[in-house]
Amino acid sequence: MTPILQIQSLDKSFGGLHVTANVSFDVMPGEISAIIGPNGAGKTTLFNQITGHLRSDSGRILFNGQNILGHSPQRIVARGIGRAFQIASIFPDETVLDNVRIACLSKRGETRKYLRAVDAFTEATDDARAILESLGLSDQAERLAFELAHGDQKMLDIGIALALRPNLLLLDEPTAGMSPEERLHTKELILKLWKEFDLALVFIEHDMDMVFGIAQTVRVLQQGALLAEGTPEQIRANKEVITAYLGEEF
Ligand SMILES: Nc1ncnc2c1ncn2[C@@H]1O[C@H](COP(=O)(O)OP(=O)(O)OP(=O)(O)O)[C@@H](O)[C@H]1O
Ligand SMILES: [Mg+2]
Repeated sequence: MTPILQIQSLDKSFGGLHVTANVSFDVMPGEISAIIGPNGAGKTTLFNQITGHLRSDSGRILFNGQNILGHSPQRIVARGIGRAFQIASIFPDETVLDNVRIACLSKRGETRKYLRAVDAFTEATDDARAILESLGLSDQAERLAFELAHGDQKMLDIGIALALRPNLLLLDEPTAGMSPEERLHTKELILKLWKEFDLALVFIEHDMDMVFGIAQTVRVLQQGALLAEGTPEQIRANKEVITAYLGEEF
């Protein structure tokens, strides 16, 4: 089986700071996996390189076997890589429904200008409502996005990404800033979305309960380099990972 994503010898420096260093790994279709590592390890930078938000210094990125290095974020999204951000990236003054509906319309190659004229609007509305239902946000559809609880704003960001029908979804700290109850809920929800939308899913997390609870593969970044890659059991038992990041309690 061809990996859905192949990262090969990827590098990025900011001035003298080597932020990702010779990173290589493959993500298989349908896999759910986690990227962990200390603050500043280069996790978000790696996502920015994959999604085209940052230009890589060297290396290769293949999506479904085809090069995407150097492509624009728009082109990469259109290819099928969706992403939610460490800080939710939503339209705060639009309704929850509109946030997702705008994305559904853009997937159909429409813009808001044409809303009234076309059936696309009705279809996009149906799509958006179905996504909100999956996210458990249906009862909040008419609220303005900024009024949502923090956890729900993070979910809405995921909903916008899902509206673009990705095959690969990248989530940057989906539980960041959440209460313990919200984290538990998010863990279950992400597992549900992974199955329902038939995704390859890669998430960055500091919540080890979530990482070891749902990831099939765990990758550890330290100072920009891939320190380890394996099953949750292998990573938990890895002496280097324990020293660099996990500590003894896992
Ligand atoms: N645009 C930039 N310009 C300069 N330095 C940057 C830039 N983006 C990130 N860095 C630096 O690169 C390093 C890695 O940052 P990154 O955000 O990728 O870390 P991270 O692993 O996501 O950390 P966290 O767990 O805190 O989110 C940090 O030292 C950061 O300050
Ligand atoms: Mg980060």
